[in-house]
Amino acid sequence: MSGLLADIERFRDEALAEIERASNADELERARVATVGQKAPLSQAKRGMGALSAEERPAVGKALQEAIVVVQDALALRRTAIETASENETLVRDAVDVTLPGRAWPAGHPHPISMTLERITDIFVAMGYRVAEGPEVETDFYNFEALNMPPDHPARSLWDTLYIAGAPTLLRTHTSPVQIRGMTAQPPPIYIIAPGRSYRRDAFDATHSPMFHQIEGLAVDTNITFADLKGTLDTFVREFFGVSLETRFRPSYFPFTEPSAELDVACPNCDGAGCGACKRSGWIELLGCGMVHPNVLKAGGYDPEQVSGFAFGMGVERNAMRAYGIPDMRQLFDNDMRFLARFAG
Ligand code: PHE
Repeated sequence: MSGLLADIERFRDEALAEIERASNADELERARVATVGQKAPLSQAKRGMGALSAEERPAVGKALQEAIVVVQDALALRRTAIETASENETLVRDAVDVTLPGRAWPAGHPHPISMTLERITDIFVAMGYRVAEGPEVETDFYNFEALNMPPDHPARSLWDTLYIAGAPTLLRTHTSPVQIRGMTAQPPPIYIIAPGRSYRRDAFDATHSPMFHQIEGLAVDTNITFADLKGTLDTFVREFFGVSLETRFRPSYFPFTEPSAELDVACPNCDGAGCGACKRSGWIELLGCGMVHPNVLKAGGYDPEQVSGFAFGMGVERNAMRAYGIPDMRQLFDNDMRFLARFAG
């Protein structure tokens, strides 16, 4: 019997040693099967109890029961230890360092054309002008006829465009149709500024694009004279370039203004001395303008005997190129982020 008790002690110690060696959940499961499973020595000893004599049984049974409880306790303890260790490992691995700086989302910014449109518009809004808009797909009437260009007028060829098949509609060649739309929408006086896209049958090269932007201005009131036009545009030039640059009016021709002129400013790059930016002329062409033709006032429903006005139209791309030192117009429409990122505010 003492041999039996010694065996039980040995089984128990071997079981405890095996449990102690288990270092993860899988190994512990194997240790559990080996120490308290059906084939474990302690389990087999328990099944062998029937063969013992009545005197032996109580002492052996007690020793066996104690050994099994000790082994089960050891298993439970080891399981807790392994679980805690793996939880700690997870905590360390998944730790969030709340002191790390956040990931910044790059904020977008307006396109250089939009920035230029906005700057120019703001200058006129500050002078009391209202922003007006018109459709880019325009009728022949608003784009040509109401602007004093009847169907066979030769000046139409100056603004060749893209026509919409089978309809008297076209992509507007300038923002001037907004003059007519503005006048028919309200009685005089009117002071509007109309920024927007225009289209022409032009090749896409370093200085041309079949789609481009213009800003139209129209002022009609009683006793508006060419002096008002000059004063307004001089104010604009001073605000836009930030300095008082010399300006000059060159006689020109537009069917919808009479007299008509082109406004040049002394080249801001060389102050009139002549450089690459102004093609050595010392002057930069800024816009077309003039006094609104009586026929245009009539088409807008205004009485040329009662009111007079001036109008001007300026291209935006070339001004943006000059303002931001952009050598090729195509860069404005390529949507290359490396180029556009330079204009972040
Ligand atoms: N619409 C003219 C152009 O596109 C510019 C202009 C506008 C001229 C208004 C005079 C008055 O060339």
